[in-house]
Amino acid sequence: MGQIVSLSFLLGVLALSSIFGVYADSPYKYLDWNITYGIRSPLGVRQRVILINGKFPGPTFDCDTNDNIFLTIHNNLREPFLMTWNGVWQRKASWQDGVLGTNCPIPAGSSWTYRMQTKDQIGTYMYFPSTGMQRADGGFGAFNIHRRPQHVPLPYPVPAGEFTLIVGDWFHTGPQFKNGVADMLKFKMDNGYGMPMPDGLLINGKPSGTTFTGRARKTYLLRVSNVGILASINIRIQGHSMELVEVEGSHVLQEVYDSLDVHPGQSMSVLVTLNGGVEDYYIVTSTRFMKKTRKATAILRYKGSNIRPSGPLPVGPTYQVHWSMKQARTFRWNLTANAARPNPQGTYRYGGIQITKTIILGNSANKRRYGVNNISYVNPTTPLKLADHYHIPGVFDLKTSRDKPTPGPMVLGTAVYDLALHDFVEIVFQNDEDTTQSWHLDGHNFFVVAFGANQWSPRMRRKYNMVDAVWRSTVQVYQKSWTVVLVSLDNKGMWNLRSAIWHRQYLGQQVYFRVWNDEPSLRTENNIPSNVLKCGKAAK
Ligand SMILES: *[C@@H]1O[C@H](CO)[C@@H](O)[C@H](O)[C@H]1NC(C)=O
Ligand SMILES: *[C@@H]1O[C@H](CO)[C@@H](O)[C@H](O)[C@H]1NC(C)=O
Ligand SMILES: *[C@@H]1O[C@H](CO)[C@@H](O)[C@H](O)[C@H]1NC(C)=O
Repeated sequence: MGQIVSLSFLLGVLALSSIFGVYADSPYKYLDWNITYGIRSPLGVRQRVILINGKFPGPTFDCDTNDNIFLTIHNNLREPFLMTWNGVWQRKASWQDGVLGTNCPIPAGSSWTYRMQTKDQIGTYMYFPSTGMQRADGGFGAFNIHRRPQHVPLPYPVPAGEFTLIVGDWFHTGPQFKNGVADMLKFKMDNGYGMPMPDGLLINGKPSGTTFTGRARKTYLLRVSNVGILASINIRIQGHSMELVEVEGSHVLQEVYDSLDVHPGQSMSVLVTLNGGVEDYYIVTSTRFMKKTRKATAILRYKGSNIRPSGPLPVGPTYQVHWSMKQARTFRWNLTANAARPNPQGTYRYGGIQITKTIILGNSANKRRYGVNNISYVNPTTPLKLADHYHIPGVFDLKTSRDKPTPGPMVLGTAVYDLALHDFVEIVFQNDEDTTQSWHLDGHNFFVVAFGANQWSPRMRRKYNMVDAVWRSTVQVYQKSWTVVLVSLDNKGMWNLRSAIWHRQYLGQQVYFRVWNDEPSLRTENNIPSNVLKCGKAAK
């Protein structure tokens, strides 16, 4: 009996592995997510939002390293939809990345199954809709990848519990927009109106009142993601400090902070020990670098507490840019800690690797569009990945992209960088504007080796942290400043590098990296999925 069961299980697994390139020893998870409209009033104003299985924000997705996930999206909106998995690499499978350069959007009224594996990942991530401005309506949530129990020890004592905090800015609509905020913002962006400031902040869908209950003297892991579209956010807890342990899949040196900045698209986890009196405490988030500060609060409740929280709220930084840059430099890789696998992070010595290419990316902005090196990205109707796979001409041209800032008028274009698998690339983000930016790379983590003020120059290379820089997928670039990252392009495919500030991404501040070698092999890239959606010139 046991033999029959295991044999059929094995055959099933083998059949699946050959189709999807998945790994036989890892569990399978099947999920159905029903995407619908709903009415909610997060800030006291009724508005149309996007729900997942009736929830706003969407459900917290918990899985383990290497799980094989079959997640079916049922798009019950009246418009096309795509979900992307921010920070989840989709190893060898940019087919599943869920952005318009890799996937056709799921048409209204139809379903599509993502078949993905959380290969070699552990940490705190998030998901959100990638099409148009939809994420301003919701449809986002937490994506937590836990270590494989019994396989890999954590570099800190196992916490008594976990709390997931989805923080972010929030907008509501004026009475003239019956549809969601996404439609309003899209209208404004398409017609050259400026981006409005957020109306407020939310923590797990509410501006106040979300309650996390724990026991006195115990330590909890707080997973925090900024899923907002515009605002950098500071987080702090009344009477408690936070010990940073993980940033987008890297275990970091466990430093203690009174407050932490989390920029759009970023995630981190902290340990909080409930070492106060048995009562309730405020968790506070507030916007950074804005004239008018917006706030949201939640409650950290000690089990058995009957003392409601009271002010004053702990004070956080507002404008201080230098403060934030200084804090960012303290985030460092713990070289002796393991990550998803039981070998120390420090065995990967990035400091000794030869840089094969330097790309300097300058922000560009005019009244109507945003861009990179004066190219404003336009999405072709055929996903780049499909055009590449089927050799469809006329969708993108590898000569369009620019490796450095280039004077001239901003032009529309589909910038795709021609890069080789295993290239080791230095990316300089130069920000000459007076607002703080945030950049995210799909499919990879990069080493954040330096932040600096004013103009980057090759002389700055002496200042790079070549030993224990944090390895993450989203990084801020302060106003009138630069940030440098180093990335080993070890994931073959078509990968989006984008502004995490969503209206900038929408209006052209993004590019793609084509990470390639000419050797067709399942060792480097999975086959095109059998259920691939086809659109544009790939529809034929
Ligand atoms: C999704 O939700 C809608 C509205 O509640 C419902 O009519 C529909 O049957 C659901 N679809 C699926 C696939 O669950
Ligand atoms: C680094 O990780 C190790 C586990 O390998 C842990 O014991 C140590 O406390 C960590 N160091 C710091 C400073 O966080
Ligand atoms: C874009 O062009 C303008 C006008 O020539 C120039 O001043 C600016 O430096 C360019 N920016 C980038 C990032 O290429």
